[in-house]
Amino acid sequence: MKRIIYTILLLTGLAACSNQRQEPLQALKERVFATAAEHARNMDARLPERMTPRTVGPDGEPVNAGIHWWCSGFYPGSLWYIYKFGGDEGILALARKHCARLDSLYYGHTDHDIGFQVNCSYGNGVDANPEYEPYMLLCAEKLAGRFSPVTGVIKSWDNPKWEYPVIIDNMMNLELLMVEARRHGRDDLKEVAYTHALTTIKNHFREDFSTYHLVNYSPEDGSVLGKQTVQGYADSSAWARGQAWALYGYTMMAREASLAGDSSRSEVFLAQAEAIARYLLGRLPEDGIPYWDYDAPDIPDAPRDASAGAITASALAELSGLTGDAALAKDAREMALKQVRTLASPEYMAEPGTNGDFLLKHGVGNLNTHSEEDAPLTYADYYFLEALLRL
Ligand code: GLY
Repeated sequence: MKRIIYTILLLTGLAACSNQRQEPLQALKERVFATAAEHARNMDARLPERMTPRTVGPDGEPVNAGIHWWCSGFYPGSLWYIYKFGGDEGILALARKHCARLDSLYYGHTDHDIGFQVNCSYGNGVDANPEYEPYMLLCAEKLAGRFSPVTGVIKSWDNPKWEYPVIIDNMMNLELLMVEARRHGRDDLKEVAYTHALTTIKNHFREDFSTYHLVNYSPEDGSVLGKQTVQGYADSSAWARGQAWALYGYTMMAREASLAGDSSRSEVFLAQAEAIARYLLGRLPEDGIPYWDYDAPDIPDAPRDASAGAITASALAELSGLTGDAALAKDAREMALKQVRTLASPEYMAEPGTNGDFLLKHGVGNLNTHSEEDAPLTYADYYFLEALLRL
């Protein structure tokens, strides 16, 4: 039965394309979420006990992220989004089941990624499951414990290669702090998030509003010791996912500061998000899906990164509703729509029963270490579904 529904939805989509008529957005959403639900059920059926999926291995089986890998929250998060769209009780049960796999994340060593891991999983289910709340607060406090008033930022990694490394990705972890600050009146968590975001504006960005990947600080006096890339093409290049994290991070901070009633802070973060968006809108390729690095030397033969496309789409969808610049709002929404249409095409979206039960193909994890060079990625799926819900 599910296969028949999927085939009807696919044929409807293809018919719309062949008639040169654009598939209506609602029909596209129904087609994508029906496909995502099938993949997600198949994924659950094949996952061994306590495994959290990351990508597909050469044998076609899911690779285990382990709960401490930064993307362990995205499969449960995608389940919450699929439930939010369709209200399927079976998917709700799976969302709860896979969130429960993260119940010991707080214990043992965690780095800045606890924000991603907890907010994208429990954070999407907490309204239906208020019992998640104390755990989320504990995790937010643990994240804030990585902040130093000397550097004015949260330390990303505990890697002796750097004194005090902060990557642009860390902007994403601030959402857990802002959400918990709002729920519990915890201004201390909010101030950590604000200070981190303001310090990052000062030190991570170039004049054109592209961002470095990593800034290394002196823990003794807070001075900047170096700026470089880890996952991008070059220290001076614009690594596509890093740019996407920056755009998403400042858009989210503009929203959260506004919800907190801090309008002057919100204006600063919104101005930063708008400037990043203008930069990216000027650089995205025609179909909206970035190459893995905007400055990769082998463009147009360089790999695309579906995850950067999905994160950018989700951020632009939100920004289009926040900005007071009408032209930017229009451009941002049009680009987000273009990006989700490209991702929903057979070039990027996998049929159920293929792609190791992930939704999207063609993500780039870390090209520099030859890890996930052209692969499905849990976070590409998650932000693609989020972008569709936001549009
Ligand atoms: N936070 C890791 C990444 O974007 O690859």
